[in-house]
Amino acid sequence: MTAQSAQISKLGAAARRFVSQTRNLLINGEHVPARSGKTFETFDPADNGVICAVAEAGAEDIDLAVQAARRQFDGGEWSKLRPSERERLILRLADLVEQHADELAELEAIDNGKLLPYARFGDVSMAVDFLRYMAGWATKIEGRTIHPSVPYVQEARFWSYTLKEPVGVVGQIIPWNFPLVMAAWKIGPALATGCTVVLKPAEQTPLTALRLGELCLEAGIPAGVVNVVPGFGHTAGVAMVEHPGIDKIAFTGSTETGKAIGRAAVDTMKRVSLELGGKSPMIVMADADMDVAIPGAAMGIFFNQGQVCTAGSRLYVQRSVFDKVTEGIAEIAKSFKLGPAFAEDAQLGPLVSKAQQERVGSYIQSGLDQGAVALSGGRVVEGQGCFVEPTVFVNANRDMKIVQEEIFGPVIVAQPIDDLDDIAAVANDTIYGLGASIWTTNLNTAHGLAAKIRAGSVWINSHNIVDPAVPFGGFKQSGYGREMGQEVIDLYTETKAVTMMV
Ligand code: NAI
Ligand code: MG
Repeated sequence: MTAQSAQISKLGAAARRFVSQTRNLLINGEHVPARSGKTFETFDPADNGVICAVAEAGAEDIDLAVQAARRQFDGGEWSKLRPSERERLILRLADLVEQHADELAELEAIDNGKLLPYARFGDVSMAVDFLRYMAGWATKIEGRTIHPSVPYVQEARFWSYTLKEPVGVVGQIIPWNFPLVMAAWKIGPALATGCTVVLKPAEQTPLTALRLGELCLEAGIPAGVVNVVPGFGHTAGVAMVEHPGIDKIAFTGSTETGKAIGRAAVDTMKRVSLELGGKSPMIVMADADMDVAIPGAAMGIFFNQGQVCTAGSRLYVQRSVFDKVTEGIAEIAKSFKLGPAFAEDAQLGPLVSKAQQERVGSYIQSGLDQGAVALSGGRVVEGQGCFVEPTVFVNANRDMKIVQEEIFGPVIVAQPIDDLDDIAAVANDTIYGLGASIWTTNLNTAHGLAAKIRAGSVWINSHNIVDPAVPFGGFKQSGYGREMGQEVIDLYTETKAVTMMV
């Protein structure tokens, strides 16, 4: 039998109570075991100890959750609410998340491995802000009026208007790197637009989504509007993508899984939005303010242990400052104290799972095998927990796996820039297009490069800055659609054109 996580003793009373029993599925407002009776364990990656057992949804459970969401959408209580009432309920949910911030942060930290202060002041605060922002949209969804010419009907005149209608029952499949934030990003716009939800958290991190589902009920969101069904991708996830009662799939995760979902969703012509992987470049020019650029780029890669879809995993530095910048980042990497989420002196936590630790370890090994040199790190940490040393690679070239593939860990690969005309081409030399950053004090360089980079988010003298008001999403193989900002409304609505002869 696997041992319990040692950090359970550090949880506050509410979080400890939450993990003291098997967590059931949340379907139609009720806590129910899986129809199969199956459960799986969720782990604390700081010591690979068990936190608790969680009901494992299969196809039958997904079907029940879809039926509940369908009833609420097709004429249930939810479908009758006015926009201002939806707004009020989402605001109340945000208040409840804020009131339960400590409990949610503790659950997030133990389940994902991220350090408690980051979970508390990063993840939970962001989820609250995002829900409040989305609440405001509920009352601001508008169509247009149009005066069509209709040239082939000479005498008649027409007026058209458009309605933005909720897309329907939405299946939301999320990853493990920001579990609560991802859940809030997904359910916020669904609720604002009047959709209903079947949410599947990642199997590595089911806890905060389950708690959020309970808070939805406490906020007064009717039972069946938000159903939370933890389970595995190849069973529960596939069942959602294939289910004819789901109108849209919203997915965040790997590009490989995103492609499989996109292909499968075509059979029922579900709407699909995909936030996928990245290999985001950070470009540091010689004229950059190094006191900003060096620590900024270090955070650009090492934040959340590098498990960020927009992690700045490729570093391009103008030759004259290459050593200064790479050695500066390596110094920061070496200074980090690795430790479990609840250790007060820890500065970098473990990766989410043994599998992810092994995966990142094998990328590091492939870098070393292909001739890259590690200025810092270069090893997974032996022993308990899923720790990986933060690694700065130099002596790299474009053909290396570590330059081309998403590693999703604390590993950055630096290459010098010699030809100033070539920077955008080098930055764009990837199948991905999620994020990029430019570090410079020259306005022409900043905005000139921003225009040439093929990525959904470009940051100047910063990296990984994400805000609910700013659209976010990928070019190229980083996905389809834009979440957040006004753009997200389009992802959760169908446009209907009504035309009348006058
Ligand atoms: P994944 O993309 O396979 O999993 C994400 C979510 O999709 C989970 O909820 C999972 O249960 C579900 N899922 C998996 N297969 C599915 C399928 N066929 N149909 C429907 N749902 C499915 O990612 P995974 O396996 O956790 O991590 C593998 C690698 O993916 C990581 O090493 C990392 O490189 C990358 N990744 C990237 C993320 C990003 O945001 N860019 C997030 C998570 C992982
Ligand atoms: Mg876990």
